Amino acid sequence: MDKLVIRGGNPLLGTIRISGAKNAALPAMAAALLTDETVILENIPQVRDIETERRLLAAMGAEVELGYGRAQHRTTICAANLTKNPEASYELVKTMRASSLVLGPLVARAGFARVSMPGGCAIGARPIDLHLKGLEKLGAQIIQEHGYIEARAKKLKGARYSFDRITVTGTEDVMMAAVLAEGETVLENCAREPEVVDLATLLVKMGAKIEGAGTSTIKIKGVSKLKGARHRIIPDRIEAATFLLAGALTGGDLMLQGCEPSHLTSLMNKLEEVGVKVKVSKGCVRVMGDAAPLKAADIATEEYPGFPTDVQAQYMALMTQAEGTSIITENIFENRFMHAQELCRMGANIRIEGRRAIVRGKTPLSGAAVQASDLRASASLVLAALVANDETIIDRVYHIDRGYERIEEKLRGVGAQVKRIGNILPERISD
Ligand code: EPU
Repeated sequence: MDKLVIRGGNPLLGTIRISGAKNAALPAMAAALLTDETVILENIPQVRDIETERRLLAAMGAEVELGYGRAQHRTTICAANLTKNPEASYELVKTMRASSLVLGPLVARAGFARVSMPGGCAIGARPIDLHLKGLEKLGAQIIQEHGYIEARAKKLKGARYSFDRITVTGTEDVMMAAVLAEGETVLENCAREPEVVDLATLLVKMGAKIEGAGTSTIKIKGVSKLKGARHRIIPDRIEAATFLLAGALTGGDLMLQGCEPSHLTSLMNKLEEVGVKVKVSKGCVRVMGDAAPLKAADIATEEYPGFPTDVQAQYMALMTQAEGTSIITENIFENRFMHAQELCRMGANIRIEGRRAIVRGKTPLSGAAVQASDLRASASLVLAALVANDETIIDRVYHIDRGYERIEEKLRGVGAQVKRIGNILPERISD
């Protein structure tokens, strides 16, 4: 198993190019199941979850070509010939919960889907009951048996459905089903994340009729057929946020290129409060971490446009080095503080009280052997390691490879001392 070895102490200086958003690319690839024509997606990040989704779609009969060489961030998908009873197997779903995003498109296009139930994961129970309720509202028959969900429908019918709680992939799943349903669907209490908007933009290019994506009410007029399209995936706001925090934490001066500053507003506002200077220009954000000493500031995670749960762990790493005490409240997932214990092993002073973490700041961090427990928790350990004295060895790096493209190369490019040991990944062709 790969490990990252990081020697802390260097301020990060220079430019980092932000990759395409994993959480926008995954639903976009699933959307290709809605048509028998070719969908070409650009700015696809080269991360493990994308490869998992390629395998998932290929197992259903779709032809999926992940680009290489100069076209390495492009994927071409043609789902003209789906297998008779398309299925997302337990083997794949257990490694990537977002596999359940194929439910909506499959039942809408093929009238049948069989998807393994995802089960809990490191950050919480994460049921998909609201996806299923939405599909049922559109007329699908759902059976849960032997650890699998089977959804069937001759033809879905438009309906009004209000999500009991805001869910990102739930909104995406039901929206994808509704585009091929007969008549009008109104979805209420929808997620407003930029990834939902990006998916709607792709679906509209494919011929869908959707209004209101990005607000809490989405209206969809069903069409009988969708066509192929070409689409560029939005930049990854969570990757950008992670590097913004890395720049702030190390007292560095980093320019992030190819990002969308408007998607980073809640974090940038918080960074100003903490004493970090942030400058925005078209497609770029510059973070200057040496402007003033870091001051503690509380956060509470919320759905977009609030402070993202996917940045909570990395922000906690920053707060370990701020003057004063901060309270971090996690409102989205019930068990997303696994990184706190590992940060404490490096010298942080963090107490967990239910959904709140109380961080007493500015304790020196020292390198240690630590374990990544999930994608964003691993990112927070990387950030802590960048300011810890001596060497930190992060185990179970496969978590980070699920969602960060070439993180060690990007960090090395701005002055961090990072190396990967263990089974080296297959060599990648650089830009
Ligand atoms: N929930 C339910 N029932 C459902 C669906 C969700 O109770 O049917 C609950 C969840 O258990 C959670 C809350 O609602 O407590 C919100 O979950 P949501 O459905 O929004 O999460 P998700 O769609 O499974 C996506 C991202 C996550 C990100 C969350 C929240 C993708 C592929 N994943 O997950 O990303 O944390 O939204 O913003 O888009 C990551 O990238 O590291 C990651 C975990």
